[in-house]
Amino acid sequence: MSILSKLNDLFIDTKTDLLVNKRIILRVDYNVPIKNNKVVDPTRIINSLKTINFLIEKNNDIILLTHLGRPKTEEDKLKYTTKTIFNFIKENNLFNCNNFEFIEDINIKIDYKGRNIYLVENVRFFNGETKNDLELAKKFANLGDIFVNDAFGSLHRVHSSVAGISNYLPTYFGLLVKEEILNLSKLLTPKRPYLIILGGAKVSDKLNLIKNLLTKCDKMVITGAACLTLYKSLNFNIGKSFFEETDVSNILNNNLIILPTEFIVVDNIDNPSYKIKKNIKDIGDNDIIVDALINEDIRKAILDSNTIFWNGPSGIFEKGYNEGSIEIAKLLSESNAFKVIGGGDTVNFINSTVEYKNKIDFISTGGGATLEFLEKETLDAIEYILKLKTTI
Ligand code: 3PG
Repeated sequence: MSILSKLNDLFIDTKTDLLVNKRIILRVDYNVPIKNNKVVDPTRIINSLKTINFLIEKNNDIILLTHLGRPKTEEDKLKYTTKTIFNFIKENNLFNCNNFEFIEDINIKIDYKGRNIYLVENVRFFNGETKNDLELAKKFANLGDIFVNDAFGSLHRVHSSVAGISNYLPTYFGLLVKEEILNLSKLLTPKRPYLIILGGAKVSDKLNLIKNLLTKCDKMVITGAACLTLYKSLNFNIGKSFFEETDVSNILNNNLIILPTEFIVVDNIDNPSYKIKKNIKDIGDNDIIVDALINEDIRKAILDSNTIFWNGPSGIFEKGYNEGSIEIAKLLSESNAFKVIGGGDTVNFINSTVEYKNKIDFISTGGGATLEFLEKETLDAIEYILKLKTTI
């Protein structure tokens, strides 16, 4: 049974009579990029509005829960407070509600008022969140009457505010989760040929995923710094470029994998005195590879495919090295395939190129969650919640 059919009668639009005049705890994924205490890309906030408006129209109160970053120290609390998100939403008047408040203390009782929205401080500031501590989950649950999970990007995490809370409240899924699963499910039975483009910095934490996805696609392009780790283990000189000391032998010789061959190299990432194009065979000892360009094999793979999934930019995107990503986006815009993009940096990048963005069929809000969904065809928090549903 597909995950979509398992969830079918748990989406909020099938529960219109139930979700009226309630205090709804809504788990969203507002793990958005922040710079100097300002929201840089609000995509995830904007994408939650469909569910929020749906619930507000039915006179519910909404208590929003989200994590932001991976806070570890006391200092991190300044950087990762959700007050930054609260201010952004207020300044931009994004919520059409009676009152919008920020809550730091989760031991309070919230009385039903109707069309009020509350944003709780970063759930990861509370002990036990990432361990799915059930005492903490119970505290979150005490804030409302019903739990709605719309945090697609976090559904691979079995944490107190994502999953544990369902032990204590009737649980449903939001409209963003529905849209994500509807679209991503199309990648599970793709129109062939099916191409996956994986970029980004790291390959070590994706080895099993890559192995698994190689059984599902017809070709895979590995770009970004991820491909440098592969070149390094093939004994190429990659100069002073970033790579990981990890054993990639189990994917190295797979003939479905296509690697870039042309790169942009510099001598210094922040202050380069040169920035030139070089073939992988010509990289010098002092070169730093900052971007991977497309070659004829990649071009052909993109244009020949009927389904394409892209996750991870080709270069150091945050430092402006995005020539390769622009080449990929341009080629995608010329292709007639069903095209899906996922992952924070890739979504960030595509949002900055309106002409190419409009040619993408679906932009997923998930990073790790999207990849795990493609790999496992489900997500751990969904399974946790479904299990509770059958045992309750
Ligand atoms: C994401 O951005 O991928 C999600 O918000 C999950 O964040 P996490 O990897 O810190 O759990």
